[in-house]
Amino acid sequence: MNTALLPLPRSVEERDGAFRLAPDAAIGFEGPASAREIAELLAECLRPATGFALPVREGAGAITLAQSAPDPAPDEAGFLPEDYALDVAPGGVRLEAGTSWGLARGVQTLRQLFPAEIYAAEAKPGLAWEAPAVRIEDAPECRWRGLMLDSSRHFWRADDVCRFVELLAQHRMNVFHWHLTDDQGWRIEIRKYPRLTEVGSVRAETMVGNHMNDWPHRFDGTPYGGFYTQDDVRRVVAFAARRRVVVVPEIDMPGHMSAAITAYPELGGGEWAHPAVRTTWGISQHVLNMEESTLAFCEDVWTEVMELFPSRFLHIGGDEAPRHEWEESKRAQELMAERGLRKPEQLQAWFTKRLDEFFRSRGRRLLGWDEILEGGIDPSAAVACWRIGWKGWDYVNDTVRAGHDVVLAPTSHTYFDYYQDEPISEEPLAIGGMLPLSKVYSFSPRLTAVPPEAAARVLGAQGQLWTEYIPTRDHLDYMAYPRASALAEVLWTPPERRRYADFLDRLGAHRARFAVQGVNARPRP
Ligand code: ACM
Repeated sequence: MNTALLPLPRSVEERDGAFRLAPDAAIGFEGPASAREIAELLAECLRPATGFALPVREGAGAITLAQSAPDPAPDEAGFLPEDYALDVAPGGVRLEAGTSWGLARGVQTLRQLFPAEIYAAEAKPGLAWEAPAVRIEDAPECRWRGLMLDSSRHFWRADDVCRFVELLAQHRMNVFHWHLTDDQGWRIEIRKYPRLTEVGSVRAETMVGNHMNDWPHRFDGTPYGGFYTQDDVRRVVAFAARRRVVVVPEIDMPGHMSAAITAYPELGGGEWAHPAVRTTWGISQHVLNMEESTLAFCEDVWTEVMELFPSRFLHIGGDEAPRHEWEESKRAQELMAERGLRKPEQLQAWFTKRLDEFFRSRGRRLLGWDEILEGGIDPSAAVACWRIGWKGWDYVNDTVRAGHDVVLAPTSHTYFDYYQDEPISEEPLAIGGMLPLSKVYSFSPRLTAVPPEAAARVLGAQGQLWTEYIPTRDHLDYMAYPRASALAEVLWTPPERRRYADFLDRLGAHRARFAVQGVNARPRP
């Protein structure tokens, strides 16, 4: 019987017998409307493969979802408790939780108890839909368990983005960080500034080969574009919300903005800067100028983004913004003098602080890559620490001691755009680096060198799918899985309960779920 649960729950007590889902089974719910919503989600998950009608009704069913009280207000980071208890017995299944988030996680565990074919998109007649009798009590180790997808360097259709969200939800992850804009393409419709997508979503061509190693650069000669309408975005956000996955949008600024500056040159460095939507990878020297009018543009963009994304956190990027244009520009020197700033880097701190105030005045919180710490930022801003490999863990310790919430995103353990095995000549072209599955699994999101109240400011972690070198969905699957499965377990399961060998055992059965869904996971560990 299949109990290859991944991530491994906190406690699993196996019992005798099995539950068999019958063709005339109903799914019951007890409690508030959100319990009905998750019951509907479960029915929708089980119907395609079983071909059963699985009506959802109030009261007991063959499978009953019970929520003890309406969802409370989210915590200051936007999260709800996610603990749940799942009883599978020959006579029926009962899933209990205090919140709809807990029910949503329990639904994913229950799906894993059925044969892998339960994930099929079409009916699989003749199979016995049995789940082993078991009692599971479960709760996550970390609040923030996420994946980031870069839709700028390569564009992913809204359907594929929903599939990406579905797969992370199956791993009981709860954050989808959506990187929507960058030098190589602006991918979200903003009604007030149509040129962002008319001009900024298309690059003339794309470089071929690795931008560090292959010189001179060669290009494919093919225009590349694509963007999400606001309706597309609403569809993805709603799809995620049903699964109790938060979508955190990232609009990267003031660097990584060549596409926007190409569309609206007045945002950029003035007379001598003539960017184009970038056709090569790597860091652009072009950044936003620090005029009030440019800040107003950014606030307008965020105003529309906020209408689309209800997430507590909004990600402003903030990484890799070279100061070169500000150092060279007379106008930037004037702005520094007006604002009493001594160094060009203080212009970015000025900009980030203003956005932070703007977000807070609207009940949101700012999140940025760890560069936002340079020059100072209010402790209510959260920091995605990605440069731990070269800055060291003390840097993270200092950040939580200063009162910031932290999302761990170190290149060393969470950059799934890195190679995953030697020899790299047998792997598809990647950006560089080396991050094998075993190393992802060895990651610890617990800080030990700071007092517990500071350590608790680590919200969790997320894996990054930067897509410069990932042009297709199969390739994206290959880079994401099974490394994201390992990260999901690191963030869900307490370290005392985790063993890599045991994870690999369960991964064997988990791969059958991938196969049924056509997920092109890397076949070797
Ligand atoms: C980053 O990798 N530039 C956050």
